[in-house]
Formats: sequence, structure tokens, C-alpha cells
Amino acid sequence: MSFSLTDIVSISDFSREDIEAVLEKAAEMEKTPLAKKNKILENKTVAVLFFEPSTRTRLSFETSVQNLGGNVIGFADAGVSSTKKGESLSHTIRVVSGYADMIVMRHSIEGAARRAAEVSKKPIINGGDGANQHPTQTLLDLYTIQKQFKKIEGINIGLLGDLKYGRTVHSLMYALANFDKVKVYCIAPDSLKMPKSIIGDTSGKLQVKETSKLQEFLPKLDVLYATRIQKERFVDEFEYEQIKNVFILGKEILKNAKEGFKLMHPLPIVNEIKTELDNTDAALYFEQAKNGIPVREALLSILRDVKK
Ligand code: CP
Repeated sequence: MSFSLTDIVSISDFSREDIEAVLEKAAEMEKTPLAKKNKILENKTVAVLFFEPSTRTRLSFETSVQNLGGNVIGFADAGVSSTKKGESLSHTIRVVSGYADMIVMRHSIEGAARRAAEVSKKPIINGGDGANQHPTQTLLDLYTIQKQFKKIEGINIGLLGDLKYGRTVHSLMYALANFDKVKVYCIAPDSLKMPKSIIGDTSGKLQVKETSKLQEFLPKLDVLYATRIQKERFVDEFEYEQIKNVFILGKEILKNAKEGFKLMHPLPIVNEIKTELDNTDAALYFEQAKNGIPVREALLSILRDVKK
């Protein structure tokens, strides 16, 4: 297995070999019973520092550390840390890297994970930095697609919703650009379009089509990856109120969908997917969230031996 990184900051840092190494390890983790993997992080401590809210990323990392026999320290709310007293991120990370063997962090500021990686003597894993990137979500998204379709190459995927602020879709675009013949339909209203810089960076490899019309392109899709409108990133609340109901998906989408069509979402869902879709064959989002465990176990076990 070949893996070249010492920190997981941005999916753009990953080569195709790095991505495949993680997916392969995750498949191995999923097959391995707990009793056979619960010494991988023996005597290791992982700090889980969440300066922003989370359910899945934090809890699946904590579960993964425990499954591998490690100890977890950290906080789920920056308000209970010395950040509240004015301590800088750099100082917090330098101190915690003296307590822990790896640090998983989420922060509201774009670039926070990169800054942390620069000052930390231990590997940093980015659990989301503002509207920028969410690389471990992307790895579990790719794992889910590969498991479902037995391939990533040649997939037709629609990215729907808040493509401007949604960090999961930003990371996913960069990751998909490592695979051949992938077609991406970026489906968003004008005010929430995928940033031009990301289209520019990836369109040499991906076939990208930008549109606001879901129904027209739905029959072409193997996967529709829907996203929440990211209320917390809007400067103007009125603008959020105007756009918050732009796409609300119900069972009607299944009428025009391809056979084998799957609906993915990084979760949490607010109102963009009706609960009537939750128990259909198309809904892959709960399975997707569950895949966070083997993928994060894989990352922790790969980074265990990294020397910075
Ligand atoms: N998908 C995701 O990042 O979920 P959380 O915000 O609950 O961690």
C-alpha cells in the first residue's frame, strides 16, 4: 500500500494512489472483526477538537478510535475550551500535539486545518474547515460509490443545492477528478453555483455541466448528491430565507430516474429531502454515514505510524 501524506488537510493533496490506499484499507477494516483490530491504536491517544457543531464526523471518529483500542480526548464545543479566553488556534494545537498522537479538528475558518498542520508535530485530520474542504467525508463518499457501483470511473453524478458554500461538494469535485470519464452535473441556482476556481481546477479531467434544471438531467444520473443550504455561511439572513426551499426532493424524482439510481447526502438534512424517500431503495445516505466508520478507522490506522 502506498500513502504519501502526513496530514489529511485537503483532498487536493491526495494522489489517486493515496485515495485507493484508503479505500482498500477501509474495505479491509469493514471485514475485520473488532477483536482483531482493537490493538491497532493501543496506547495511542487521539484528540478530537470540534470548534464547530457535528454529529457524524465527531462521533464516527470517536467510535473508530475506540474500535481500534485507542483513547479519545477533546471537546465538542469551542466554548468550553480556552479559545473562549482568546487563545490562538496555533497555541491550542501546539499544546494538544504534546498530549495526543493525532488530532482531528473542525473549524469555521477556511485554512484552519492547514495552519494547524504547519504547527503540529502530530498528524492533523481536517474534519471540515469553513466552506473550504471536508476530505474525510469525501473519502467515505467515494467508498460508498465504489461499494454500490463497483467502480468510480465513468459515473454520472449530479451535485445539487448549495454548491457555493458546501465544503463536501468542493472536496468531492477534486477527488472525482482523479478518475476517468466521470460526468458531473452541478445543479444549483445562480447565487449558489460551484465556485469558478473549482470548475477551472477540475474541468480538464471531469466533464462538467452547470445547470439549474434538475428534472432535465435527472434521467442521466447514477447518483444525485444533494446538499443542505448552508445557513451558517450566509452573511445576509434574508438571502438565505429567499433560497432555502429552492430544491425539495420527494418521491416524484424516482419517476424519471435511471434503474439503480441512488440518492446521497452528507447529512444533516434540513428540508431538502422529504422523509418519504428515507426508506426507498434509492436512499443511500444512512449507509453513506455508516461507511464513515471503516473509512475513518482506515485513516487512523494509516496515520498511526506517520513521523512528521
Ligand atoms: N456530514 C457531516 O459532516 O456531518 P456532521 O456535520 O454531523 O459531522
